[in-house]
Amino acid sequence: MQRAVLISKHIYSDAVDYLRGRVRLDYHDSDEGLPAAELRARLGDKDGLICQLTDSVDAALMDAVPNVRVVSNVAVGFDNIDVGAATDRGVMVTNTPGVLTNTTADLAFALILGAGRRLGESERYLRAGRFKQWRIDLLTGWDIWGATLGVFGMGRIGQAVARRGKGFNMRVLYYDPFRQSEEVERALGIQYASKGEVFSQADFVSLHCALTPETRHLVGPAELNAMKPTAVLVNTSRGPVVDEAALAEALESGTIAAAGLDVFEREPEVHPKLLRLENALIVPHIASASVATRTRMCVMAAENMAAGLAGERPPNIVNPAVLG
Ligand code: GLV
Repeated sequence: MQRAVLISKHIYSDAVDYLRGRVRLDYHDSDEGLPAAELRARLGDKDGLICQLTDSVDAALMDAVPNVRVVSNVAVGFDNIDVGAATDRGVMVTNTPGVLTNTTADLAFALILGAGRRLGESERYLRAGRFKQWRIDLLTGWDIWGATLGVFGMGRIGQAVARRGKGFNMRVLYYDPFRQSEEVERALGIQYASKGEVFSQADFVSLHCALTPETRHLVGPAELNAMKPTAVLVNTSRGPVVDEAALAEALESGTIAAAGLDVFEREPEVHPKLLRLENALIVPHIASASVATRTRMCVMAAENMAAGLAGERPPNIVNPAVLG
């Protein structure tokens, strides 16, 4: 009998086409996610779930739908899924790494450039009809070329951002609990530093770590106070990595110069202060949002699902321990 899969939300059609014929589909083809109770109800007769970062998959849900064997997230991050609980229950969890690396790094660098050179603020200024004449100190910002870039988290995306930094002649410092080999450090031209050094020496700090209990509020008042008053913080990782209220305070008081944010602590809510601060360049979680990358992510999630349900090793399994 064909396996049954619930797709919790609208995805690119290439992935749906891939799955049709391979599995029996229940496709919630909507941009609105399913309320928790409906998600649980519709999973009652399913073997797999294709979900997105807006779906919370916790132990209680997994206990309610023990028939679900594969949870395939259309994202590289998987903090919306209780992976420990999944592993305990023998549920495979998969994600979509690699394909979004460069797209995400492009956006991180766009935020570095945009926040450093005050692009959001400049555009608002012009659109408001305030550009009356050229001025020597009009909307002056902070140079990117030759500045020091601090990368927090030197995984795939951190490395891709470091490469872009080298293209801008930046000195690249990084912190990661796992230090890269000398070979990688040399090839990328990056320098290992303590967490404190990254925050205190960098002109631009870019966050590229996963959200875990250890990284929740990794950037709080102490880190912000350690940063230069001319420094810029960029976050394309997960919102809760930054204490948003502390960041808003630091931006307002001039503790740091600016921030470029793609992610927020309580998405889709944004701290009200950030919404009105000119030195916050804020975009709605679009780091991997190119058509090609988002399409590929959806197809990868479908491939992971089909492999898992066919009894094969999914190409991107997050918890291989379940395979025994
Ligand atoms: C997006 O935030 C992702 O984790 O892919």
